[in-house]
Amino acid sequence: MTNQKIDRIIEKCNTEEIKLCPFPTGILSINLNKLESNIIKIIKFVNRIGNKNNVKFLLPVKANAYGHGMIPVAKFIEYKKICTYFGVSHLKEALELRENGIKNSILIIGQSSCEYKFLKCIVQNEFEQEISDEQLLYALDAEAKEVNRMAKIHLSVDTGMGRCGILVRNIHNFVDKIKKCKNTQLVGVMTHFPVADVNEEFAIKYTNKQIEIFTKVKNMITSKFSNDIIFHASNSAGTVKYSSSIFDMIRPGIASYGYPGHDLGIPLDPVMEFKTKISLIKEYPKGHCIGYGCTYTTKKKDERIGILPIGYGDGLNRLLSNKLAVIVNGKKEKSIGAISMDQLAISVGKNTQINDEVIIIGRHGKNSFSAYNIASQIGSIPYEVLCNLGNAKRIRHEYIYI
Ligand SMILES: Cc1ncc(COP(=O)(O)O)c(C=O)c1O
Repeated sequence: MTNQKIDRIIEKCNTEEIKLCPFPTGILSINLNKLESNIIKIIKFVNRIGNKNNVKFLLPVKANAYGHGMIPVAKFIEYKKICTYFGVSHLKEALELRENGIKNSILIIGQSSCEYKFLKCIVQNEFEQEISDEQLLYALDAEAKEVNRMAKIHLSVDTGMGRCGILVRNIHNFVDKIKKCKNTQLVGVMTHFPVADVNEEFAIKYTNKQIEIFTKVKNMITSKFSNDIIFHASNSAGTVKYSSSIFDMIRPGIASYGYPGHDLGIPLDPVMEFKTKISLIKEYPKGHCIGYGCTYTTKKKDERIGILPIGYGDGLNRLLSNKLAVIVNGKKEKSIGAISMDQLAISVGKNTQINDEVIIIGRHGKNSFSAYNIASQIGSIPYEVLCNLGNAKRIRHEYIYI
């Protein structure tokens, strides 16, 4: 039975969504039962394969929780007490979480600005910051000293990602610098995998090498510090494919939102569904142009076409023109012509009517489409599809928890 507190959380989030988007062009249904069950499945999997019971879980909620809505997701997950950390990539996101009453630890992933006003906020709110260079380390330490606090940092180690992180050959030196910062507490040490999701031999070797390097770094750092340090490396693919990458905490984002992207061996469910309605039906004679650029011409007499009130302005990539597949009344249909900013056309059968529901991500009987299907049509990844849809202003989120 749904608990009253959860009902209130969901109702408040949905009321807020109605205020933000009173006349939606489409609905993104976010099923929080599925999010919860995906996370629990991942935790059970880690306990089983890693033979560990107390691995911490950081849920990445950056980029509006991969488009799912950062505040509702964080409030729900914090209430459920299934993870201890949230991961964001901007100070603004971290502040928004705190302003909405989130008490979990918050790790700011990536390189924050060294500007004074940012540093002050980080220290005062006890946000934890990934550190990849000494300028930010010293600036945070100085700020913490001024307000008589400790800055909490996660040292980032570049074992092969080629983005953030200290290069391994400089780690010894950097650790000594951290030790000299009296107002800085080394809370965690992290690394990141660029190809853990790739099933090719080079990628497997590459990721295993990264794990080996990180393990050596871990041993070196542990010997130099007496406090407990959280070592963490695994994103979704790392978590499920490399048991040796599971240290003290995992950071699975896309898997929590239901996208394995490869055969993970855990049945995860996409959390987001996307639906809209047919806004206009038209019948065209054979040979009529449909949409910008006339990239589609009607093929038969009295060809029926449905217009949907969504386009690339709502996060649907224009490269999906003449490609996007949808489900109308249980039947698969295709988008025809170019996707415009605010509208797109689909082929429809003779019984389809204005206001009939159109499923873009979701399931009807045996037919289903996911963000993965959409992404693979345009050479993208589900992350991008989810972020683009989930951050579109004219589409309303609707939170479900049964
Ligand atoms: C440092 C870091 N950890 C974890 C994640 C989560 O990755 P995934 O969504 O592939 O699990 C990301 C995602 O961008 C990241 O940048």
